[in-house]
Amino acid sequence: MNQDELKQAVGRAALDYVPDNCIVGVGTGSTANCFIDALATIKGRIQGAVSSSEASVARLKSHGIPVFELNAVDHLPVYVDGADEINRQLQMIKGGGAALTREKIVAAVAEQFICIADESKLVDVLGKFPLPVEVIPMARSYVARQLVKLGGHPAYREGVITDNGNIILDVHGLQISEANKLESQINEIVGVVTNGLFAHRRADVLLLGTSKGVQTLK
Ligand code: A5P
Repeated sequence: MNQDELKQAVGRAALDYVPDNCIVGVGTGSTANCFIDALATIKGRIQGAVSSSEASVARLKSHGIPVFELNAVDHLPVYVDGADEINRQLQMIKGGGAALTREKIVAAVAEQFICIADESKLVDVLGKFPLPVEVIPMARSYVARQLVKLGGHPAYREGVITDNGNIILDVHGLQISEANKLESQINEIVGVVTNGLFAHRRADVLLLGTSKGVQTLK
């Protein structure tokens, strides 16, 4: 199977975690898109979805899946999303698509986080993928200097404005051995909205697309 087929396979596999008649949390990116397409095949047995980005809202609506505001939802049994990197503790780097803040919010609300990923995303140590940090625009230079003090090399993601009107700094050169600690340290920098480490709220289940089939890690 090629990478697209692996993404489609994990997107379909995630349907097993969607209870009948529920509202589903839906993530962002090419793998999440495969899940949205799979979700369309069972749209008659769900109420609808809450989404982590405008791009996913558009894709959900194109399939005729109702989209709810998160504030209107009091029970979200499951959130399904991809990752840029994931380790065997199911801690992740996310935000390659710049949707990290809304992803983190929806993931916080959901009872279960199901990560769907092809095998290229599984790593021993997080950090080869540059860590995205969403920043209030006027704090960009200050935050960049603080990130250097934490050992990273931040790069401004040119031309990208998040759905929340902010900018992204991608932090290169990190070897993340203490993901919980680093997630908290970066969040403490004034001007940071959120960072793409999902360590405190890691995935509950990883559905990993491999050449031997979909493997489940918990
Ligand atoms: C979006 O901001 C990201 O967190 C995505 O979940 C992540 O980049 C994975 O995207 P792909 O499924 O396209 O690799």
